[in-house]
Amino acid sequence: MTKYRSVALGCGSYLPEKVLTNDDLAKMVDTSDEWIRARTGIKRRHIAADHELTSDLALKAAREALGAAGLKGGDLDLIVMATSTPDQTFPATATVVQAALGMTGGFAFDLQAVCSGFVYAMAVADNFIKAGQVRRALVIGAETFSRILDWQDRSTCVLFGDGAGAVVLEAAEDTGSPDQPGIFSTHLHSDGRYHDCLYVDGGPGSTKTVGHLRMKGREVFKHAINNLAAVVEEALEANGMTADDIDWVVPHQANKRILDGTARKFSIPAEKVIITVEEHANTSAASIPLALSAAIKDGRIRKGDVLLMEAMGGGFTWGAVLMRW
Ligand code: UT7
Repeated sequence: MTKYRSVALGCGSYLPEKVLTNDDLAKMVDTSDEWIRARTGIKRRHIAADHELTSDLALKAAREALGAAGLKGGDLDLIVMATSTPDQTFPATATVVQAALGMTGGFAFDLQAVCSGFVYAMAVADNFIKAGQVRRALVIGAETFSRILDWQDRSTCVLFGDGAGAVVLEAAEDTGSPDQPGIFSTHLHSDGRYHDCLYVDGGPGSTKTVGHLRMKGREVFKHAINNLAAVVEEALEANGMTADDIDWVVPHQANKRILDGTARKFSIPAEKVIITVEEHANTSAASIPLALSAAIKDGRIRKGDVLLMEAMGGGFTWGAVLMRW
């Protein structure tokens, strides 16, 4: 039986035009540029315009990724879109993107794993490809977290931003060689005992409202480094690799202190970690493909590089993707 590997063909991203700086925020809540930068590394974030929906951001990233892959919407069999801020409760925002891309076959759905969403979506697409059920998949992470923030709560509103990123994957015959580009393995975890550490206090089935993001920041911080370190180790071990084999870590961008702490645990030099949190803040499911896209555009990540993506978010959920670009 043919074995398949998911090979990345292209990546794209989109950030809304409007930029909100820490100084702008200091005029809205009792905070300061100094506090935000010292605790998180964040300097600014992008905020979607009133008329811009998550699907609009996703579509722009998707078009760029398809362009980089030399494909059209009609060439896709699958769209998996990671988002916690869909346009509507249903249908899936992925179907809005599907229609706009002119993809009339295949299937499209949303996936919800908050900040781990992109890693989860890559794992799902990879498994459809490995099962031989999908030839080409578009994996999107897109968010308008500005819509679910409590703009009076300084402990959360300074941390997040809006954006979107996307990757096109294609099935290739797996030669079994570690030199072949594509996804080596994916590793997903969740622990629902912590679901009330990072959540939205509303929803269609409870309050019939959208609600606002709430977070026990210290609790999240504490678990993040341990969970991320464990899943990075798991991914390396599964492939008989060490940190030295990694060209680039492309992490979820929540907080620079978490990124530095995780890299330190593995003695991964800071220069090998792609960091965009200063410019984008935490864009939840969009943060990894946004960071990936930035590093491809500036020439750091090249074809053939070994990438480690890792993320942790509400649920708690966490996971990793190890691949050769
Ligand atoms: O994708 C996963 C998503 N979430 C995360 O990754 C977040 C993980 N957690 C964190 O990054 C950190 O816990 C935060 C950045 C959220 C907070 O940093 P911290 O060092 O854990 O601060 P803290 O929550 O313990 O608060 C320290 C102080 C408090 O004042 P008191 O009680 O010491 O007087 C807060 O009220 O800082 C205060 N504070 C602020 N001060 C200025 C909280 N938010 C702000 C703010 N500006 N924006």
